[in-house]
Amino acid sequence: MTTVAPAAIGTLTATGTKLGAWHHRHLIDVDVLSWAEIELIMRTTDEMKGILARPIRKVPALNGRRVTTLFYEASTRTRVSFETAARNLSADVVSISTATSSVTKGESLVDTIRTLEALGAEILVMRHGVSGAPYLAAEVFGGHVLNGGDGWHAHPTQALLDLYTMRENLPGGDLRGRKVVIVGDILHSRVARSNIWSLTAAGADLWLCGPATLLRGMDRWAAAWSGGAVPGHGRFNVTTDIEAALRDADVVMGLRIQRERMQGGLLPSMREYAARFQLTAARLRLAKPEAIVMHPGPMNEGVEIAPDVATSGRSVITEQVANGVAVRMALLYLLAGAHEAAVGEPAR
Ligand code: CP
Repeated sequence: MTTVAPAAIGTLTATGTKLGAWHHRHLIDVDVLSWAEIELIMRTTDEMKGILARPIRKVPALNGRRVTTLFYEASTRTRVSFETAARNLSADVVSISTATSSVTKGESLVDTIRTLEALGAEILVMRHGVSGAPYLAAEVFGGHVLNGGDGWHAHPTQALLDLYTMRENLPGGDLRGRKVVIVGDILHSRVARSNIWSLTAAGADLWLCGPATLLRGMDRWAAAWSGGAVPGHGRFNVTTDIEAALRDADVVMGLRIQRERMQGGLLPSMREYAARFQLTAARLRLAKPEAIVMHPGPMNEGVEIAPDVATSGRSVITEQVANGVAVRMALLYLLAGAHEAAVGEPAR
């Protein structure tokens, strides 16, 4: 078996530029990442994709390291891909389902995390319905916390796999000036919030589109950034006009209408939403002929996206899922290496 040497990671180069080493102990959102660090994740993901293309997809990079997944909300893609990623790196994986754990007896998040650490957890991948829960976890956990999605706040690994998939599909792998449109329930979307950070850092011409009730707060965020509020991040556009959003788009991403997070009164009906905002073949004719269609999943086909669009030749939705394994391998690998550096142990 072959491994990617940790020492090589810090010196990977892109167009002759030396990239910085990884130094984050946790990853809770992409807002803490510099562009050099995002490039490092992309390059490390390239390495991981190389491993996944081999007949034997397993390397000993995290041999003996213990990865625990703790999901308080349902998940298929994130949880399975993290567990697959950890196993591909030879880590020992423990999977906690809160439905069958002592959480059902009233155990607190803090107690659960302390218990898992006492049981040997070193890297904790967690999903929680409360925005900010991973920050609390990071305060009490002695290892590394990787956010698999918290409330409406952030889904950093989804944003990174989205970025990777866009780069793979756009000529030259460069998002600068490319029109990227996200359509749907922006208000409740942790995917949209993380993508705002990574896509504006990549230089995309980002558009957020949906009914006004599902865009609340985004106008103010966009206006604040139009004055260069965050160095290195471009501005983004917010609109209820689906035609203006889709016109000449390079990338179109649909988002699920998150009925479980709605108090009611935000949409007249799913039928009306679909009539005005569904990604249909007819609407996508406004986008560039070579535009790709994305969706983080899970999809409600027939609501935010037409079934024929989801499975069309433009769709890269299954590529997103597959790239999720490689991106998560890269992040597990980088975080584990950072921890070794932090405690002064030699890199393995
Ligand atoms: N995209 C995403 O987070 O999917 P899951 O809820 O299935 O993990």
